[in-house]
Amino acid sequence: MKKYIEAADIYKTFHLGKHEVPVLRGASISVEKGEWVALLGASGSGKTTLLDIIGTISHPDSGTLSIDGENMNDYFGERLVAFRRKKIGFVFQSFHLLPELSILENTMLPGLFSRTSRKNLVARAEMLLERVGLKERLMHRPNELSGGEQQRTAIARALINDPDLLLADEPTGNLDSKTGQTILSLFHTIHAEEKKTVIMVTHDEKVAGAADRKVILKDGLTFKDGMIS
Ligand SMILES: Nc1ncnc2c1ncn2[C@@H]1O[C@H](COP(=O)(O)OP(=O)(O)OP(=O)(O)O)[C@@H](O)[C@H]1O
Ligand SMILES: [Mg+2]
Repeated sequence: MKKYIEAADIYKTFHLGKHEVPVLRGASISVEKGEWVALLGASGSGKTTLLDIIGTISHPDSGTLSIDGENMNDYFGERLVAFRRKKIGFVFQSFHLLPELSILENTMLPGLFSRTSRKNLVARAEMLLERVGLKERLMHRPNELSGGEQQRTAIARALINDPDLLLADEPTGNLDSKTGQTILSLFHTIHAEEKKTVIMVTHDEKVAGAADRKVILKDGLTFKDGMIS
């Protein structure tokens, strides 16, 4: 049986003019459904690059990726976009909210392309925002919210299409440690209650400690925690 996510022998090199930056050199990662994996590694080691590849927003030069038994090589164009939208929610370090839209509209945004009626979409966005403790702030714009509140909005947005998989790139990186802790508990609740699969990039060993398992990126390769010092 295939695991929920299987990325095998992933290579990715960036080209800057004549300069080549080999980032991933045979990285592999597999994740069980419902598992929470922390992806650790030095700055520039390729964590974001690997997460973007797993999230299908970037493509490897070679290697294979399967999600939920589907080979991602078979997916491109509209079909890939639809798969990604349904299956994957993204949370970023710098929140990536649209400043002109209210918190409610930001949360609804990835759901606008689904077949859900607007009424149901509003109801779901309101429910998710209530869940992350922002019920009173629906009509506020992102710049009227604190960093932690903006990240909670981003988490609600990531959940709007009820994806199986949550990918988070340093979700606590721009927050003070107390606020970071609140965000981490929120991930914990979502993971425990909804059995979401979570892959979270972090620099922070303490944040990684909340995960079921750690994977470390070094020299373009992935290591199990404990195999390198
Ligand atoms: N689009 C790009 N074009 C050229 N080089 C890139 C591009 N994206 C990433 N890189 C390079 O690839 C390497 C890995 O970058 P990546 O963002 O994956 O690292 P990271 O582990 O997420 O680092 P950080 O912890 O600082 O976020 C870096 O050397 C970076 O400069
Ligand atoms: Mg990064």
